[in-house]
Amino acid sequence: MGKSAHSIAAVVVAAGRGERMGGPVPKQYRSLGGRPLIHWSLSRFVAHPAVHPVLAVIHPDFATLHEESVAGLDLLPAVYGGATRQESVLNGLEALRVHAPDFVLIHDAARPFVSDHLLDEVVRTLREQECGVIPVTGITDTVKYRSGNEVTGTADRNRLVCAQTPQGFPYVGIMAAHRQVDGRTFTDDAAVAEAVGMTVVTVNGDRANIKMTHHEDFSLPFNQTEVSTGTGYDAHALVDGDHVMLCGVRVDHDRTLEGNTDGDVGLHALIDAILGALGCGDLGQHFPVDDAKWHGRPSGDLVRVARDLMTECHAILLHADITLMCQRPRLAPHQEAMRHKVAKLLGVGEQRVNIKVTSTDGLGFLGRCEGIAAAATVTLRRPLP
Ligand code: CTP
Ligand code: MG
Repeated sequence: MGKSAHSIAAVVVAAGRGERMGGPVPKQYRSLGGRPLIHWSLSRFVAHPAVHPVLAVIHPDFATLHEESVAGLDLLPAVYGGATRQESVLNGLEALRVHAPDFVLIHDAARPFVSDHLLDEVVRTLREQECGVIPVTGITDTVKYRSGNEVTGTADRNRLVCAQTPQGFPYVGIMAAHRQVDGRTFTDDAAVAEAVGMTVVTVNGDRANIKMTHHEDFSLPFNQTEVSTGTGYDAHALVDGDHVMLCGVRVDHDRTLEGNTDGDVGLHALIDAILGALGCGDLGQHFPVDDAKWHGRPSGDLVRVARDLMTECHAILLHADITLMCQRPRLAPHQEAMRHKVAKLLGVGEQRVNIKVTSTDGLGFLGRCEGIAAAATVTLRRPLP
């Protein structure tokens, strides 16, 4: 049998209560960028071509929540964990017995950001060396010993590393080790392996592969997000009237903008730019002209719908830049009010909004004062798909 034929299973332990993080549900079931944390963790293993099958170890109190959270993933039926992480791992290992894998990767559900590269490294080293393999990172802080409040020494940090998961082991060996140390408590599986004399080697871990432990850990790191941009354009005709609405601000004028809503081309271009950045179609699809619901409504109401869509997509608006194109009325005196209004409608700081106004030197329909146009560019940050 060639090395590549070695089977590698994964046990992902998720039976803790996440007490340090607190909250109504254990941390592994909280939403992170639109998906439960545990979905992030498990899907990395499910997607890896060398790893199969994947088993989650869960707390019986959260079995229903677990099933909802991992719907659609190719997993073995979950098994229940125990009072300690070590017991939970052992339960997972026992459940894999019928599958008799050559190797097993043991991972904390609380580490959602394990990269493909890190998985590849652990898998490659496991196949080559057929011993314990753990990802580690160096320590950048100086490490002290202390007794009570008093410092009693300084560790040689060059000899120390921090252990992460996934940790890989020959299946039979780690299973035997866990059974053998039963009764003694260890904080990771490598310590269990070490205790029975198994060789454990290290590979380079990844600083992004954090174990979410405290409330402040719970945000998407930069490298799990992407930036997207959308553009929008709109133009409306000027007809008899006494004011125009532009970027949510009323500007007195001897004409008004025609339109189903208040004709605010500035906000319409902005909404199209948001929809563009989200990949969610355009204004006409979300607010059909024949839908009486939007008739005569202020365009700020439409912005609110676009904002809700951003929230649903877990997107954060980074910047909105709107250009109003119009010969008359003069808009420069209203620029600051527009910036203020648009920022408020979007729920962001004013530094994230820019309003530009330009005339077209008397050229075209804009120059002839037949209408007013607007263009917008929106930049968003959102979770990686
Ligand atoms: N774990 C487990 N069974 C336990 C305790 C912990 O399967 N009896 C799992 C956790 O779900 C987690 C991993 O082991 O994915 C690492 O544990 P930790 O980060 O300490 O999570 P919790 O124990 O849930 O958190 P806390 O210690 O703050 O309560
Ligand atoms: Mg714990």
